[in-house]
Amino acid sequence: MKGLLCLGVTICLVEICSAHLCLLSPRQRGSLSGFNKAAAEDCYLTQGECGGRMSDPDNMSIYKRGMNYTVILQKNLDHHNDTDPGSFDISLHHKTSFSYYTRTLATIPDTAETSLTLYMADVHIPRDLQLSESPAYILEVTYNTNTLPITFRQCADVLILE
Ligand SMILES: *[C@@H]1O[C@H](CO)[C@@H](O)[C@H](O)[C@H]1NC(C)=O
Ligand SMILES: *[C@@H]1O[C@H](CO)[C@@H](O)[C@H](O)[C@H]1NC(C)=O
Ligand SMILES: *[C@@H]1O[C@H](CO)[C@@H](O)[C@H](O)[C@H]1NC(C)=O
Repeated sequence: MKGLLCLGVTICLVEICSAHLCLLSPRQRGSLSGFNKAAAEDCYLTQGECGGRMSDPDNMSIYKRGMNYTVILQKNLDHHNDTDPGSFDISLHHKTSFSYYTRTLATIPDTAETSLTLYMADVHIPRDLQLSESPAYILEVTYNTNTLPITFRQCADVLILE
């Protein structure tokens, strides 16, 4: 999408026409460096499932069913649409070879706050998650700006226990 959007335009415009999203808690997959500066590279993931980052069994957060947790994310680079504000959508996914479960946990409206603003949502982990042989879930945040035809993604790996 990045390529399409900026086709025929110089590389430096890529920065201008892209928003960025970081997931601080639970910690996003993979590297999370330089997030105190706008347009951090680790906060620009747009392609495919989880922005192309693979699950990381060594860095899982642990949640319990029926409990509440605070998700903290950062709008690393602002691209707020004044007439039609976008949103940050937090959802839970679980995949096996034969099933796919997904549920929205919270939606946070985008605001005109500057780049680097933190947003948080208290989410409730349902008790009635699908029964499965594996407690490994993906908590995904997507940022839809309504300004760009791109969805920004970050995932965190979460073990959800009884
Ligand atoms: C796992 O998390 C630690 C910090 O908690 C980080 O330093 C390390 O890079 C992460 N490992 C991977 C493979 O992302
Ligand atoms: C989770 O939050 C909801 C809504 O604020 C509250 O009613 C509930 O008691 C909380 N549950 C726990 C386990 O803290
Ligand atoms: C904001 O959203 C409106 C409605 O979806 C759209 O027409 C407009 O182009 C968007 N503004 C920008 C700057 O992208």
